[in-house]
Amino acid sequence: MEKTKVCIFDAYGTLFDVNAACRELSTEVGENWEELATLWRLRQVEYTWLRNSMNEYIDFWKITENALEYAMEVLNIDNEKLKIELLNLYLKLEAYPEVEKILTILKEGGFKTGILSNGSDAMLESAVKNAKIENLLDEIISVERCKIYKPSSKVYDLVKDTFKINNNQVAFFSSNAWDMHAAANYGFKTIWVNRFNGKLERLPGKPEAIVKNLDGIIQIV
Ligand code: LAC
Repeated sequence: MEKTKVCIFDAYGTLFDVNAACRELSTEVGENWEELATLWRLRQVEYTWLRNSMNEYIDFWKITENALEYAMEVLNIDNEKLKIELLNLYLKLEAYPEVEKILTILKEGGFKTGILSNGSDAMLESAVKNAKIENLLDEIISVERCKIYKPSSKVYDLVKDTFKINNNQVAFFSSNAWDMHAAANYGFKTIWVNRFNGKLERLPGKPEAIVKNLDGIIQIV
């Protein structure tokens, strides 16, 4: 098997905790803050898939806002100020506790590292800066470069175009099962960071390994 040269991470749910915004404002949102976080995230990813099918790309910030507006309306939360506060927190999502340590170990081990995400450049730059991991990443690759969302193969193509390497030299890490299946099917060595105790989807592409969080990846690459 080809040796891994580049370690690529999905952003939302893998490096950054997508529930952090609603959790931080849970008092303001009320007792159904977890329901809001779940519906917001669900519509956010569904809108990317649907817009891919419709050839109607808009950037991920707008999709994130649209999904939040929908979720708030469903849960009868009519509060423009809260919407703006929740959205702004999305720019400063907490990284999971092990992220900085694992990226440091990978860099010390000589691997190149990067993010490949649906997030817009501005969103990713902000989250990375806030988490203080900008020096631990060689590339932050946004779908803004191809203007189509995962799981289009055009998104995964961005890795070889950016790093000038073969797909089998890439280890790809995602907590999102659908992203993991698509990346494995595309040809990356793919590791499912199964943070949320999910089940394998009935989709093409199999993970090389499954870990509970990023602590488990060092033995694998
Ligand atoms: C991303 C989403 C899929 O960061 O989590 O691309």
